[in-house]
Amino acid sequence: MKKLIYFLFVLFILAYSCQKQEKAEPVLGLVTDRAMVVSAREEASKIGSDILQQGGNAFDAMVGTGLALAVTYPFAGNLGGGGFMVYRKNDGKIGGLDFREKAPLLATKKMYQDENGDIIPDKSTLGSMAIGVPGSVAGLFAVHEKFGSLPLESIFQPVIALAKKGVVVTSKQEARIKKYQPFFRLVNKDSIPLEYDWKTNDTIKYSALALTLERLLENGQDEFYKGETAKTLVSFIQSQGGIITLDDLAKYEVKWRHPIEFNYDNLKIISMAPPSSGGVCLAEIMKMIEPYNLDKYGHNTVKSIQVITEAERRAFADRNYFLGDPDFATMPLKTLMDDTYLNERMNSFSFKKATPSEEVSHGDIEIIESNETTHYSIVDQFGNAVSVTTTLNGAYGSKLYCSELGFFLNNEMDDFSSKPGTPNMFGLIGAEANSIAPEKRMLSSMTPTIVEKDGALYMVVGSPGGSTIITSVLQTILNVHEYNMTMQEAVDAPRFHHQWLPDEIRMEPNSFDPEIIKQLQKRGFTTNEKDSPVIGKVDAIRILPDKRLEGGADHRGDDTAVGF
Ligand code: GLY
Repeated sequence: MKKLIYFLFVLFILAYSCQKQEKAEPVLGLVTDRAMVVSAREEASKIGSDILQQGGNAFDAMVGTGLALAVTYPFAGNLGGGGFMVYRKNDGKIGGLDFREKAPLLATKKMYQDENGDIIPDKSTLGSMAIGVPGSVAGLFAVHEKFGSLPLESIFQPVIALAKKGVVVTSKQEARIKKYQPFFRLVNKDSIPLEYDWKTNDTIKYSALALTLERLLENGQDEFYKGETAKTLVSFIQSQGGIITLDDLAKYEVKWRHPIEFNYDNLKIISMAPPSSGGVCLAEIMKMIEPYNLDKYGHNTVKSIQVITEAERRAFADRNYFLGDPDFATMPLKTLMDDTYLNERMNSFSFKKATPSEEVSHGDIEIIESNETTHYSIVDQFGNAVSVTTTLNGAYGSKLYCSELGFFLNNEMDDFSSKPGTPNMFGLIGAEANSIAPEKRMLSSMTPTIVEKDGALYMVVGSPGGSTIITSVLQTILNVHEYNMTMQEAVDAPRFHHQWLPDEIRMEPNSFDPEIIKQLQKRGFTTNEKDSPVIGKVDAIRILPDKRLEGGADHRGDDTAVGF
């Protein structure tokens, strides 16, 4: 009898432990049949989705969602910033739009240095001198002109109505506003609406912004670049000591650019070309890691983290040295994405110990970029896909707010290398290719990306996060492709980041197994769990095998997927 009880006990333990090892039920994000928008705010996703439901296409929804983010998410959504878009139409045709800000005509190479050649603190990040010539309005109008199908009226009106009615403050937004209020006070001569003591569930009305949007609807893009709005904007910036002129606005133009394309296993990755470093850097990293069996190593294991980190280290060293505005700098893009070059780059990699960054060439330069961009992904009911990342650069950009027009202005000038070899606000060290010149576009890390699998649309992915954008997009794609996660799981999974300099792996705190961190340190890696409470906020869409769509809306923010 005793033996039988013992036998039954062992059987129970075995059955229990097998059950424990079974993979938990997959966690799916919102699943819809035909169309979806995923963005940083539910209200913006809903406006985009409503436009699709009215019969609009992904490009119409891009314009509506982009404008709605300017109202609902002033932290990064914008009229006073810039961005990039990558698209894939339902016939497989792909393209990219660069609506990045430009340096003003009066900009000079050393404008952020003092007479001793030292960087003047805050000049490229706070206030009027930090502003690049905004590109967002031109970007949205260019997309509508080329691909839009609904009248602008039906795209603008719901956004104008929302700005008038007001947007409810979330708890995350309350915390953000509080955090940045001292800077609003420092930079702005007059008080601005976000200086009030806003609490969760309060409603903020954006009446000045509603009027600006009404004028844009009535008079088109020229209103912003040549009309009354342009005059108000320039006289405001100049009254604050800035150098942007009416000529700067009148000369601004977007650029249609062919995206970076490369293969990884049976995937084709389509991402943004320079002046964003996103596509090239992503290509370098993915091609360097492709020969390794990440799926066998497992998600966020020591071996997987080692391979990804070492590829990131090498790609970022190249990024900082070689990349800049293609209209100004010659870049060896073919070589940087060449298999032989990248295999050689990984020759020095060993699982035994970390490669110190000082041994990875072009070691004189470091990079820093800000975390406060925003991304939105759209797939429409016709099968068109749009991936858009837009930014003011820092949180609320330069913190300078034009009360008459109702929006913040960017501090994108900080994305130039103000002094080659000196880190910017993201710790990124830049080189000559990204030095300041009038009308030049500053190098970006924005990585709006579309993924095909076996020739068909598979994922739309992107993130904010400065330099961590690239590695957040990378990990999201790998989480689905290598580690078999759903879109929502892939977005939610803990992330890490290495950017060559500083030579450390930044990790989201309390998210990684302490034993894994110990093993990495034993192999010579420096880990940093303190400085990045959040790495990226990915908003993504995956096409399921039965053609339905699964959204991945990042739980790190108020991000929400809406669709039908
Ligand atoms: N300002 C962030 C980026 O362009 O990457």
